[in-house]
Amino acid sequence: MASGEPLFRRIAIIGLGLIGGSLASAVRLNGLASEVVGADRNQEDLILAQSLGIIDTVAKSTAEAVQGADLVVLAVPVQATRQVLEEVHPCLAADATLTDVGSTKAGFVKDIHAVFGGFLPNIIPGHPIAGSEKSGIRATNPDLFRNHKVILTPPDIVDDSHLARLKLLWEACGASVLTMSVEYHDEVLAATSHLPHLIAFSLVDTLAGEDENMDIFRYAAGGFRDFTRIAASDPVMWHDIFLSNRDAVLRVIDHFTRDLDQLRTAIADQDSATLLRVFTRAKAAREHFSKMLSGQAYVTNNSERQVTFRLRPGGEVVGDIRVPGDKSISHRSIMLGALADGVTEVKGFLEGEDSLATLQAFRDMGVVIEGPDNGFVRIHGVGVQGLQAPRGPIYLGNSGTGMRLFAGLLAAQPFDSELSGDASLSVRPMNRVADPLRSMGAVIETAEGGRPPLKIRGSQSTKLTGIHYDMPVASAQVKSCLLLAGLYADGTTSVTEPAPTRDHTERMLAGFGYKVDREGPTASLTGGARLTANAIDVPADISSAAFFIVAASIAPGSDLLLRHVGMNPTRVGVINILQQMGADIQILEEREVGGEPVADLRVRHAELRGIEIPEEQVPLAIDEFPALFIAAVCATGRTVLTGAGELRVKESDRIQVMADGLATLGVTTTVTEDGIVIEGGQTIGGGTVNSHSDHRIAMSFTMAALRATGEIEIQDCANVATSFPGFVELARQTGIRIAAEDSAAGNGQE
Ligand code: S3P
Repeated sequence: MASGEPLFRRIAIIGLGLIGGSLASAVRLNGLASEVVGADRNQEDLILAQSLGIIDTVAKSTAEAVQGADLVVLAVPVQATRQVLEEVHPCLAADATLTDVGSTKAGFVKDIHAVFGGFLPNIIPGHPIAGSEKSGIRATNPDLFRNHKVILTPPDIVDDSHLARLKLLWEACGASVLTMSVEYHDEVLAATSHLPHLIAFSLVDTLAGEDENMDIFRYAAGGFRDFTRIAASDPVMWHDIFLSNRDAVLRVIDHFTRDLDQLRTAIADQDSATLLRVFTRAKAAREHFSKMLSGQAYVTNNSERQVTFRLRPGGEVVGDIRVPGDKSISHRSIMLGALADGVTEVKGFLEGEDSLATLQAFRDMGVVIEGPDNGFVRIHGVGVQGLQAPRGPIYLGNSGTGMRLFAGLLAAQPFDSELSGDASLSVRPMNRVADPLRSMGAVIETAEGGRPPLKIRGSQSTKLTGIHYDMPVASAQVKSCLLLAGLYADGTTSVTEPAPTRDHTERMLAGFGYKVDREGPTASLTGGARLTANAIDVPADISSAAFFIVAASIAPGSDLLLRHVGMNPTRVGVINILQQMGADIQILEEREVGGEPVADLRVRHAELRGIEIPEEQVPLAIDEFPALFIAAVCATGRTVLTGAGELRVKESDRIQVMADGLATLGVTTTVTEDGIVIEGGQTIGGGTVNSHSDHRIAMSFTMAALRATGEIEIQDCANVATSFPGFVELARQTGIRIAAEDSAAGNGQE
């Protein structure tokens, strides 16, 4: 299309109801056609449409409208489709696109076959998922499709240029376009649109029928109004929809009737467990859906949100704080709680997007989980064999831990599953889990280069067999993945690690009564036993505390108390390294909660010295290096990191991304293949840093501002919510001069 030239020459819209009229006016308003011609059985409506500026031209018949049109849109009731198609057929130009807007697609396809003798490459069934309980030409609204979805169900033989042009048209009307098969469309719509309409019509009719004066409605409050709004929709249109999508609608009515009957029985029998199970699951599903709609939280792709941190230089860090719960332990608490027999209660659960994605995944597999409510979660375990197949792919957002641990668990299930994630997760290596799982007998497909999505063919694999695996890299995720698969495998599964990695899986399995043996660097377990529900108290995440430990260490005048910090010996590398650098960290009130050591930490400013970081500390501080790099810049002397190649395959390439960010602030470093050399004592200037959507990079540069000479802007910070909800508020509370700007929400917080 040459610029300035409309997308279509002449668009014929047959049927000027709410959808046809709204499309016509959106096309005219956005200049998408040189001419919009309308045809309708009702001549008065046609004349009105023209006088309201909805269409350019009135056609006396369908044939006249279609003549010379390069796009014909059928917007008639679905029951009228066949007859209108008979009128369209003889006049439709060979190069014209034909589409419709009907709510059911199988009927349209049948009508096309009957009238055209088969499908043609220029015919594309469509369905805008937009509407209103209002109907008719007077309800026309050119913005009706804005921020709504339009589903197209093109046939295999579709001509791509017709499809592309039709997509452009809908997008120019503000809609987003999806394509799917006719069958899938009709199933989905039967469940999400047709059934709710049927129930609304039926409920209002039942109540109205019981009380002829309809007096009862006087007492009906907001719930009734919200629930039954759609019962005011066009009766003829809905009559047509139910008859035309008969089979799919009958299936979903039967399903719903069974479920309603089950609730009836539960009420009759005073069966609280069933009622609570159904209601909590429904509540969680509804909240999940609201979050999806409002574009928040774990189900959204954070790349759509642009969060920027702005930091004024200087400040000191003081106070008494508790950072959110440990991410690794939070993931595992849901996983083992779901697989256990009985009810597991979790305190201090991390309500970050990563662990919430794990929680949602188990709900999708039929586990009832109450909460999270201020870190409290109650999981109604289903037993090791109790998971149900999820209805669609499991979306794990940014979480590498989620994907790798789920791979082990799902490889052993009798059903198929698919694991996907955001842009960052989609380029992370998964063969490190897929390969050993395959040698246990799992059937797993990855995308090219061993990347996500993972397609796990549980139904095709026979029972897994235990293996011994010598891990080539020190990875707690790989170890945990194999131990989870090992729960289901025949015989013993053992994993040897080249250096100690976090052992939360082993500790928690033991807490759930599952025997895990440890011999030197090897952890092993035998499949087939059961897990017993256990209470879990999640410590504050040392990886989140690390930013504040570094902050208080580098900012003169700082004195900060961090409460209830997890001090598992496989996680305390950051404290060991900082203490070697001369940091003033006091470890107070050491205690054990639920199998994990915790302590309070008092951190005061100290002059740090550069060191050669001992390689055995690397896996014990693997997530804390971005923050440690900032400490190294503020130290005197040289800090050398080696043996940390794993940092290059985290949420970003943390060696390069940190070096690039430091460079924009005027700090030079030397990047090596598996580490970095940082000369301390350099001045940190102001500037703009890109975090590459890596939460830990964003939080590390936040701390750098305490010692900077100018303002620092950090871009792409939305993913901080994956591990540290409330980071900005907590940082500000301790004295860090931070403001966040959220472009999607359009609000800044000062
Ligand atoms: C984690 C293990 C580590 C760590 C990650 C959490 C876990 O990853 O970086 O943030 O919970 O098991 P690797 O196993 O890849 O080292």
